[in-house]
Formats: sequence, C-alpha cells, structure tokens
Amino acid sequence: MAEPPDNWTESLSTNSSLPTGEGIVLDIGTGDGLFVYQSARLNPQKFYIGIDANTRPLEKVSEKIYRKPNKGGLPNVLFLQAAIEDLPEELNSVADEIHIHFPWGSLLKAVMRGEVTMLHNLRRLCSDDALLEVLIGADVERDAAELERLGITSLSISFVDSVLTPAYAEAGFEITERGECLPADWPDLQTSWARRLNNNRNRSLLYFIARAR
Ligand SMILES: C[S@@+](CC[C@H](N)C(=O)[O-])C[C@H]1O[C@@H](n2cnc3c(N)ncnc32)[C@H](O)[C@@H]1O
Repeated sequence: MAEPPDNWTESLSTNSSLPTGEGIVLDIGTGDGLFVYQSARLNPQKFYIGIDANTRPLEKVSEKIYRKPNKGGLPNVLFLQAAIEDLPEELNSVADEIHIHFPWGSLLKAVMRGEVTMLHNLRRLCSDDALLEVLIGADVERDAAELERLGITSLSISFVDSVLTPAYAEAGFEITERGECLPADWPDLQTSWARRLNNNRNRSLLYFIARAR
C-alpha cells in the first residue's frame, strides 16, 4: 500500500479520499453523508460505509443511493446507524481507510482524549496498514465550555505529539502525519460541516493521519 503523499491535503481536495487504491472506506460521524456520496461517485472502485449515531440527517441520501444509477443511485455505498462506542463486530478488520471529519460530542472525545479502550474500538475495524484520518475544526474560545465538558484540554499539534501519539501507538496506530491550517487554506473538503465552518475565521483545522500497525 502506498505511503500518504506529503501533499495529501491536495489529493483530498481533488479525490476526496486517501490514496489507498481499492478497498473499503468507513466515514464515522458521517452526518448527512455528503462526503461518502461524493467520494463514492468519484471512486467507484472503492466501497463506502457511512456511520453515524443519528440517522435523521441521512434520510435523503439513504433513499437516493438505491435509485437507478442515472437518477443518482450508487451501488458502492451503505449507511449504518451505530455509535463509535458500540460498533458492530461485523465491521472488524474491514476498513482500508477510516475518515472522521469534524467530530463533535462523544465522537470528538473518543478521538481526542486518547483513551485506549476507545481507540481499540477504531483499531479493530482496520485491515493491516489501514489509514485513519481525523480532521478537527474548533474555535477554542467559542467552544471552550463544550471542550471542558468533554475533558479535552488541548487541540494543538504539541498535544497530538505528546499525548495522542503514544496513546494511539498503544492501541496499534502510528501517527504518521499531523498539522494545522487556517480556514483560508482548508482543502476543498466535500463535507457539509467543512462548508459550514469555513466562514469562521477563528476556527483552525487540526488534522492527523495514522496507520494501523
Ligand atoms: C459536526 S458533525 C460532522 C458531520 C460530517 N462528518 C461532516 O463533516 O459534515 C458530527 C457528527 O458526529 C456524529 N456523532 C457524534 N457522536 C457520535 C458517536 N459517539 N458515534 C458516532 N457518531 C457520532 C453526530 O451525530 C454528527 O453527525
């Protein structure tokens, strides 16, 4: 499997996907499923599973994927109701890529607290060498109360290096890349929350990519 390129954010903006070739892609906390739908159209050789604890925003797209192909139907997509705390065992070892875009609430807590039990929940979904991509958009002032409630003390690169890198390693992931950028430099991500948050100039994007070992 190819290493993620240095310019992965560019490849994201054009392909909406990591460079893993064929395979199964999970999008956890998929929201309205836009990323899954757009990516599945662009990458028909991959199979996409959008997962969210809340199914209401998925009602439209779940109906659309079963239409005829010329009416927007897509045979390479599935949506599933599940929470990261309780993912079905049928998903064990299936994922070649996992995306978590703009997590909030307990999903943000799961990826940013570095609790190994929760990270094991993610690791068990992975096939060998699977890639995990996490993108977080936060306004640390405006979101301070919610971050405190979730027990998240920092959303910085140094926190990724000092706290998350060892915690992810214990759960079987190697964080191979991480970074931050300003809203103006955000890649053209095809997710509804990327579009919604992009207008807030106080919000920065923290991202990291990990490989299952
Ligand atoms: C801010 S939205 C982002 C949606 C989408 N990824 C996007 O970029 O447009 C966060 C999503 O995480 C989901 N979520 C929150 N906690 C979750 C959990 N424990 N397990 C699975 N999904 C969860 C919410 O239902 C919501 O759809």
